[in-house]
Amino acid sequence: MENVIMVTGATGVLGREVLERVRRTGLPVRALTRRTELPAEPGVAWFTGNLATGDGLDEAFAGVRTIIHCASDARRPKNDIPAFHRLLDAAKRAGVEHIVNISIVGVDRNPFPYYRIKLEGERLLAESGIGWTNLRATQFPELLNMALKAVSKLPVVIVPARTELQPVDQGEVADRLVELAQGEPAGQVPDLAGPKVYPATRLAKDWLRAAGRRRLVLPVFIPGRIGRAFRSGAQTAPDRAVGVRTWEQYLAAEVSR
Ligand SMILES: NC(=O)c1ccc[n+]([C@@H]2O[C@H](COP(=O)([O-])OP(=O)(O)OC[C@H]3O[C@@H](n4cnc5c(N)ncnc54)[C@H](OP(=O)(O)O)[C@@H]3O)[C@@H](O)[C@H]2O)c1
Repeated sequence: MENVIMVTGATGVLGREVLERVRRTGLPVRALTRRTELPAEPGVAWFTGNLATGDGLDEAFAGVRTIIHCASDARRPKNDIPAFHRLLDAAKRAGVEHIVNISIVGVDRNPFPYYRIKLEGERLLAESGIGWTNLRATQFPELLNMALKAVSKLPVVIVPARTELQPVDQGEVADRLVELAQGEPAGQVPDLAGPKVYPATRLAKDWLRAAGRRRLVLPVFIPGRIGRAFRSGAQTAPDRAVGVRTWEQYLAAEVSR
C-alpha cells in the first residue's frame, strides 16, 4: 500500500511546516482543515473536516495509510478529547496503519489543564490498537512570539517567575515528524527539545529588544501545583537538547526589524 499521508491541523504553526515537508518527499499528501474555502496548493489534496464533530473525516481519511496529527483547538482545548475519539474511530474505519502524534514535553509531570488533555490524547492513542508514534516537543518559538506580541500590548509584560523554557524550532519538529511518518510505528520516541534552556524573563526581554518595544518585564509567582511544576522545569528536557536553531537566531530572522 502506498504511504498516503494525511496532515491534520495543516493550517497551523506546526502543520504548515509538516505539510510543506511531506510535499517535498513526493509522497501523496492530504491536508485537513475546518475551512470550507480550501487553499489551492499544487501537490496537496485539501479536505474540509472537523475532528470535534467527525464531519468530513471518512472522505478525508479513505485510502490514507499514515496520519500526522497536528490539530489542536487551543481556544477550546476540551474539544481535543472528543476530537481524539473521532480521529481514532475514523482512522480505524479507513484502515489507517500509523498515527504520528505531536505532544508536549512535561505533559506527564505538570497538571496544567492543557497538558492533562494532551496526556489523555496520548493514552487514547496508545490504547487504540492502531500503530502509533508519539513525539513530545518543547515550546515553539512561534508560539512564544505570538504570546509576547499579545501581552506586550500592555505596558507591563507579565511572565512566570523562576520558570525556564527551552524553545525548539517548529521546522525541526516538523522534520522529525515527517521522518517518523515514513517509518514504522515506534511508540513513545525520545523528546525533542531546543538547544538552550532560558529563564522566561530572558526570553521576554530578548523578544522586546528584537521587536523594538520598551516594556517592563514583571515576573509573577504562580501558586499551587501547576506553578511548582513549571518552576521545577517539567516543561524542559535539558538532556534532549538536540534542536539546532536558537532563540537568538529565530529573533534575528523573524522578529528583528
Ligand atoms: N505551540 C507549541 O509551542 C507546541 C509545543 C509542542 C507541541 N505542540 C503541539 O503541536 C500541535 C500543533 O500546535 P500549533 O501551535 O501548530 O497549533 P495551531 O497553530 O493552533 O494549529 C492548530 C490547528 O488545528 C486545527 N484544528 C483545530 N481544531 C480542529 C478541529 N476541530 N478539526 C480539525 N482541525 C482542527 C486548526 O485548523 P483549522 O482552523 O484550519 O481547522 C489549526 O490548523 C498541538 O497538538 C500542540 O499541542 C505545540
